[in-house]
Amino acid sequence: MPGSIVAENHHYFLVRTRHQPVEGQDGSVKAKDVGLRQQQNTETTMAHAVRIHDYGGPEALSWGRVEIGDPAPGEARIRQTAIGLNYIDIYHRTGLYKLPSLPAIIGMEGAGVVEAVGAGVCDLKIGDHVAYAGVLGGYAVERLIPADKLVRVPNTIDDVTAAAMMLQGMTVRYLLRETYRCAAETILLFHAAAGGVGLIACQWAKSIGANMIGTVGSDEKAQLAKENGCRHVINYRKEDFVARVREITDGKGCDVVYDSIGKDTFPASLDCLKPKGMWVSFGNASGPVPPFDLGILSLKGSLYATRPSLMTYTERRADLLANAGELFDMVTKGAIKVPVSRTYPLKEVGQAHRALEARKTTGSIVLLP
Ligand SMILES: NC(=O)c1ccc[n+]([C@@H]2O[C@H](COP(=O)([O-])OP(=O)(O)OC[C@H]3O[C@@H](n4cnc5c(N)ncnc54)[C@H](OP(=O)(O)O)[C@@H]3O)[C@@H](O)[C@H]2O)c1
Repeated sequence: MPGSIVAENHHYFLVRTRHQPVEGQDGSVKAKDVGLRQQQNTETTMAHAVRIHDYGGPEALSWGRVEIGDPAPGEARIRQTAIGLNYIDIYHRTGLYKLPSLPAIIGMEGAGVVEAVGAGVCDLKIGDHVAYAGVLGGYAVERLIPADKLVRVPNTIDDVTAAAMMLQGMTVRYLLRETYRCAAETILLFHAAAGGVGLIACQWAKSIGANMIGTVGSDEKAQLAKENGCRHVINYRKEDFVARVREITDGKGCDVVYDSIGKDTFPASLDCLKPKGMWVSFGNASGPVPPFDLGILSLKGSLYATRPSLMTYTERRADLLANAGELFDMVTKGAIKVPVSRTYPLKEVGQAHRALEARKTTGSIVLLP
């Protein structure tokens, strides 16, 4: 139904937008009379955004102007100042994770300033600095978003940092503090330890005092993971990571393996676990884990397996606020330094996708509208 919230599923929340292609216009279209808008000035309802019209390579990302519209009840319109790049953006672009409809604006994370709010939104006001993660439609200069998916960003945290940390940082928080509650005695294996999620995991594990073993794809990445607090680092392009984990743990194995690589590290990740250890499969950077016989979990030591998603862990407003609040505290007190390694203009997001897919990036990447 035009103008309504289109869908909500376990991967992402979608918001009402009108994405008619209007390339070639000068963007000076004025907003219609909007009784709900709090600010006095008329605003354009057009903004630049990056859409895909079909699934494909980085060339499928197209820059143009779209109509944004005015916030419906329960929504806010924000002007984004920084947008987080995440691996899920690649799954959306390629169609590994299907989008509800095309064309679509991809991107799941951003930070910016509230420009307008719809009826019933009481706890946000024009000018508030906010950020979000897990709401499709991020690759845009302005966007509509359900107000209850926004969190206010403390003034100790700048917008680039906020945009870089919401999705990756909240992911680390739920993985290490909820999916498996890591403590000082925990031995954890974390793949891709020098990536966006990975470098935050190194620092979070260090702050807990847990014994983190990280895998990485180059010696430079190994150095970076170590500098961020990872106690043992394995270059899995050169070394057999199962054998090295056994060596490091005196043959005992790990309590938990956090695996975002998917196809290439399955089933080897299971061989890194202690009996009754937990395999947390939370991503597919190399492709999805193939279907497998559940009996493998019994054969390899009565293992637990889970396939979590940030969207489930932050679906309830209270959980979102608890997660973001703890993350903000960690960053504000300096326990976590958000590792922004590079920014790209939003318009050049294709280059950023190419680098991320080619394993050429480290830490977090931010797009500037
Ligand atoms: N389930 C959730 O809630 C959730 C939330 C956030 C992120 N994730 C997942 O966490 C993972 C990390 O996300 P991120 O945004 O921080 O990305 P990232 O770790 O910065 O980048 C992905 C990394 O994966 C490694 N990799 C190994 N094999 C690869 C391959 N065949 N192709 C590409 N990369 C490969 C590379 O590091 P090396 O060169 O060191 O191997 C690469 O740098 C992704 O799988 C993502 O889907 C899941």
